[in-house]
Amino acid sequence: MEAQTQFYRDTWVEIDLDCLTENIQNIKRHIASDEVKMFAVVKANAYGHGDVPVARAALEAGVHGLAVAFLDEAISLRKGGIEAPILVLGASRAEDVKLASDFDIALTNFSLEWLEEAAEELDEEAGLKVHIKCDTGMGRLGVRSVEELKEMETFIRSGRKFQLDGIYTHFATADELDDTYLEAQLGRFEEMVSVLNERPPYIHSSNSAATLRKSKTHFTAVRVGIAMYGLTPSEEMKSVLPFQLKEVFSLYSRLVHTKEQQAGDKISYGSTYETKEKEWIGTVPIGYADGWLRKLQGQEVIVAGERVPIVGRICMDQCMISLPGPMKSGERVTLIGKDGHEKVSIDEIAEKLETINYEIPCIISPRVPRIYIKNGKTIGVSNRLLS
Ligand SMILES: Cc1ncc(COP(=O)(O)O)c(C=O)c1O
Repeated sequence: MEAQTQFYRDTWVEIDLDCLTENIQNIKRHIASDEVKMFAVVKANAYGHGDVPVARAALEAGVHGLAVAFLDEAISLRKGGIEAPILVLGASRAEDVKLASDFDIALTNFSLEWLEEAAEELDEEAGLKVHIKCDTGMGRLGVRSVEELKEMETFIRSGRKFQLDGIYTHFATADELDDTYLEAQLGRFEEMVSVLNERPPYIHSSNSAATLRKSKTHFTAVRVGIAMYGLTPSEEMKSVLPFQLKEVFSLYSRLVHTKEQQAGDKISYGSTYETKEKEWIGTVPIGYADGWLRKLQGQEVIVAGERVPIVGRICMDQCMISLPGPMKSGERVTLIGKDGHEKVSIDEIAEKLETINYEIPCIISPRVPRIYIKNGKTIGVSNRLLS
């Protein structure tokens, strides 16, 4: 089925690819070495921003390759015409490895057992690219013992079914300013890399936080996600950012109905909000099925440059806001982003939802179309580039 490029609702996300480009250029300048390749992490539909348009813009901005969570996400990029190196960070099923080799997608190899099972599925000359994942303290995927690691290298190099393209690890606390645990993980990783007979081309450990804070974690490649989208990995990292990040994701809607309510009128399910005096109320066509969760009741949005609250319960497809005065339908509502001097940041929404900024663009559902802006022009809609 063709991707939908037209939409007929008054709620949309804008993805500012110029901000994405600027963030990438700043990150690359900060890395300051052509020897260190940057992988753009575009898993989860590019953290909800849209995989193919973000991947294209990131590659144009100078990233070397892409990283995703699952094979399906990698294949989606290949089918979208992306030819750059792609690494799957998560576990892939052994029965699917042939598909990965056909699409020239590198997989994460996290145990000897996985390798043996994968080998059963591959032709002698398959040359499947693998990156060995070391568990240095994250406790997630990865080999922990040096003995198993050595056996894995021997197994990989014993024929032509596999090609050892990389070795990597992932930090659990890189976004915290106390480096004790990170240093322990780094030491463990260096020890694991040192037992290899031959170093593979990609040696990597840094996520955004480590990339921005610790150049000694860069090795020959970095995997950058959240910073590329203009978000700071944690609150405490805000004080040590080497440059300003620009948020790429904004969320807009339009008033579809406005009316003046009388004092004592009730708003939305459960009648939890009652107007105290005459009050202009606007209906906004976004609700919890769009990822605009019920817990956002009371959150402020911006209309005509002014912050106003969401009143009453958020419904599945709509919510109501208190307006500063008479207003016509059609007026733009900024739920995330800037309008005049006001701004609602993704961090503000994350705080209201008692979660981290990573989660916010991911939960705004695919039902909300993404519009891609480059040089002030719309160049794509919902994962489809127009040209
Ligand atoms: C293995 C791995 N590498 C890199 C990243 C990117 O992290 P960040 O978005 O903090 O840059 C992630 C994200 O969760 C990850 O799981």
